[in-house]
Amino acid sequence: MAVKFEVNGAPVEVTVEPRLSLADCLRHQLRLTGTHVGCEHGVCGACTVIVDGDAVRACLMLAVQAEGTKIVTVEGISDAADLTPLQASFRKHHALQCGFCTPGMLMTAHALLSDEPEADEARIREVLSGNLCRCTGYIPIIEAVLEARAAYRKAER
Ligand code: FES
Ligand code: FES
Repeated sequence: MAVKFEVNGAPVEVTVEPRLSLADCLRHQLRLTGTHVGCEHGVCGACTVIVDGDAVRACLMLAVQAEGTKIVTVEGISDAADLTPLQASFRKHHALQCGFCTPGMLMTAHALLSDEPEADEARIREVLSGNLCRCTGYIPIIEAVLEARAAYRKAER
């Protein structure tokens, strides 16, 4: 089936099997391998991308369901050469080790702070509870997201 959607600001058109997941389409057809695939059944959050403003598990969405949507992957959260404030905060707080969970963490946190730049620690913990990390113990991730809030508040003005 032919499907048209937008990824990171650019229109794309792909031909896919109806059963192909959005995650596999992004990785294998569009070569956007920043979106990781862990559990493939909606548990780990590694495949999280933003679809029309909402954080979505790309392993649970079919590529054909993306018709007409606007998708942002981890490759698209910044159009600059530098890290975004959220990414820089992850680096500063050592919020990643192996990095496998990191794209999903970033996308989930980016969607949250874009909507709720005042999110408190409890809210950040609640939202990120859907993303698994086997390395960090989560504390540095929470600290990184808390510090990144300031940049999202500024962006709102
Ligand atoms: S790979 Fe999609 S939630 Fe784990
Ligand atoms: S940094 Fe390794 S799984 Fe999170």
